[in-house]
Amino acid sequence: MTAEQKTYTVAVAGLGKRGMHHAEAVAKNPRLKLAGLCDIDPGRMETAAQKFNVERTDAHAAKLLQSVTPDLFIFCTLPQLRLPMIRAGVEAGVKMIAYEKPVALSMNEALEMYKLVRAAGVKTVVSHQHRYGEHYRKVKEIIAGGAIGRVHTVYGHSIGWMMHMMTHLVEYAGWYNGGADPLWVAGQAAGCEKFADVHVSPDYIGALVQYANGVRGIFECGAGAPDVPEVDSMWHKCRIGAQGTEGFAEVLTGKEGKGGGWRAVTRDGAISGPGYMDYAHDMPPYIEDMVAWLDDDSRVHPCDGETALKGFQVMMGALRSVVARGKIDLPLGPGEPELDALQKALG
Ligand SMILES: NC(=O)c1ccc[n+]([C@@H]2O[C@H](COP(=O)([O-])OP(=O)(O)OC[C@H]3O[C@@H](n4cnc5c(N)ncnc54)[C@H](O)[C@@H]3O)[C@@H](O)[C@H]2O)c1
Repeated sequence: MTAEQKTYTVAVAGLGKRGMHHAEAVAKNPRLKLAGLCDIDPGRMETAAQKFNVERTDAHAAKLLQSVTPDLFIFCTLPQLRLPMIRAGVEAGVKMIAYEKPVALSMNEALEMYKLVRAAGVKTVVSHQHRYGEHYRKVKEIIAGGAIGRVHTVYGHSIGWMMHMMTHLVEYAGWYNGGADPLWVAGQAAGCEKFADVHVSPDYIGALVQYANGVRGIFECGAGAPDVPEVDSMWHKCRIGAQGTEGFAEVLTGKEGKGGGWRAVTRDGAISGPGYMDYAHDMPPYIEDMVAWLDDDSRVHPCDGETALKGFQVMMGALRSVVARGKIDLPLGPGEPELDALQKALG
């Protein structure tokens, strides 16, 4: 049997909104077999088991993984649960772990997670799947084709708060910047209301990033970040793009019927087009690229966990910068848990 004929088994843990999106895309992929499901909520687990006709279920991810030993482990739990899931996947000998953003709650946790997966040779994928949107791809095509000249600035902003939105912004801006390494970050933050949220965040954060190719990154997230008046849906008010010596190109995330799309000014004039973020459109190719990487080590997933870790470092670096009052060099080593330190600093 060639690699392209193999069927890979999959277990999914955390069967809320995003877990169900993943399970649906897995169930529809002919190269994948949904072999196990996990949620601490028995009702959700039962509903999913019936919907996808899966027999093996367990409220404990580690137990499920030990009995199913899947090739691919997907977990879509809230941000408080990352390291124990990664450990459970590594200990069960899975080949790939795909999980939801944000990468972790602190740099210490992320470093521990990546120590485990790197030592075990486990591939990781993080769900920055917006990039599969046609409007996101159009912006990439314009920038990569040179139509805006030499890129000097990339940017992203969202009125959704940091732990929800910031790694999305940094990931896609980094993509538009050709994947250059971030060298340092300087941040500022304000407001403590969202420290009580499950996506623990300052109410507002701004970050300036210097990339190794000389490009500057500008990011803002949360209350006080610029509005995107063209989009009439709070979570979809994101604008991400690049400015170059001859123009700019940017995507407005958008939602069906609520605005969104892409626009650019290039050396040939102004152009624009429609588009909106759509899970049903973005999830199948996102899952398909996992199969491709399982088949072939050289077909690294566009949402590779190592790239996501770079973006996470920008976010954690920005928090450290608020506390230390200065530029923070990347990559980061271990340190005081960033959110705790920031909350103390903001009072
Ligand atoms: N990539 C995206 O576009 C996108 C969009 C929305 C949310 N997210 C991210 O997805 C993650 C999940 O968000 P959601 O909206 O699906 O949350 P959710 O609350 O709908 O689902 C989380 C599920 O995890 C389950 N769970 C909790 N503890 C568990 C455990 N120990 N073992 C197994 N299951 C457990 C809960 O019972 C729940 O069913 C978050 O990190 C969020 O930031 C990403």
